[in-house]
Amino acid sequence: MKLSGNTILITGGGTGIGLALAELFLKEGNEVLICGRREEMLLEAKKKNPKLHVKVCDVSNENGRKSLLQWIEAEFKNLNILVNNAGIQREIDFTKGPADIEKSVNEIKINFESPVVLSALFTPLLSGKENSAIINISSGLAFIPITIMPVYCATKAALHSYSISLRHQLQKTCIKVFEAIPPTVDTDLDQGARRARGQTDFGISAAETAIEILNGLEKDEFEILIGGAKFLMNSSKTDFENTFLLMNNR
Ligand SMILES: NC(=O)c1ccc[n+]([C@@H]2O[C@H](COP(=O)([O-])OP(=O)(O)OC[C@H]3O[C@@H](n4cnc5c(N)ncnc54)[C@H](OP(=O)(O)O)[C@@H]3O)[C@@H](O)[C@H]2O)c1
Repeated sequence: MKLSGNTILITGGGTGIGLALAELFLKEGNEVLICGRREEMLLEAKKKNPKLHVKVCDVSNENGRKSLLQWIEAEFKNLNILVNNAGIQREIDFTKGPADIEKSVNEIKINFESPVVLSALFTPLLSGKENSAIINISSGLAFIPITIMPVYCATKAALHSYSISLRHQLQKTCIKVFEAIPPTVDTDLDQGARRARGQTDFGISAAETAIEILNGLEKDEFEILIGGAKFLMNSSKTDFENTFLLMNNR
């Protein structure tokens, strides 16, 4: 797909991979819109990149999603690319019973329900536009779960499955459906918990991840596998078992 001249919405674009994508898309000559819940992060991103358009919005909330669409219909009718990037990651211990359930409900809403509903809401706007696309950011953990974050991994597995079906359904339209599949990336995602469990490898940078995603988009690779995610997705049954044990028994 063409990487310039687009109007692109990136959910959760105020930090991490979303912000790195926003900066790269700006450099390539696109109009870029970002949204997130924390106004201060959006304003900080805009201070660094004055051409960004920002909107405070909680994509897990029905009213938030509707007001996002209204803003775009009123001011950015040319929008042709939606990047479903907003996400959270939580450790959830089911041996405690329902204590952690609240966290997991929210995780399902943000990581899975939001991309599903947003793609439905935005499909009419994207239809008929040149170079239109939906880009879902899933994870290598869609393929081999880390069991301390069971709901996170399941939401990403669901997003992978959904991306395949959506791509197939929308092939009758001009909207291409991409899935970017990062490995561990050094961002704020669940950073406190990563440090608390003594993790020392924080992965590749958000900037490197964004470069890989744009390279994949340019080549029309519908499943953009980055770094270690290639191994996780393509592992044999034996690789799966060995890697699962390695990832979950440290
Ligand atoms: N880091 C990794 O190792 C890794 C690996 C594979 C995949 N990913 C995926 O990459 C995506 C980006 O994560 P990241 O690593 O860049 O972490 P991040 O820096 O924490 O970015 C997540 C962004 O999502 C926004 N967000 C969260 N909930 C939201 C909501 N309800 N409405 C709107 N925005 C919301 C956050 O902003 P607010 O809190 O201000 O709303 C934040 O800007 C996620 O989908 C994540 O699952 C990350």
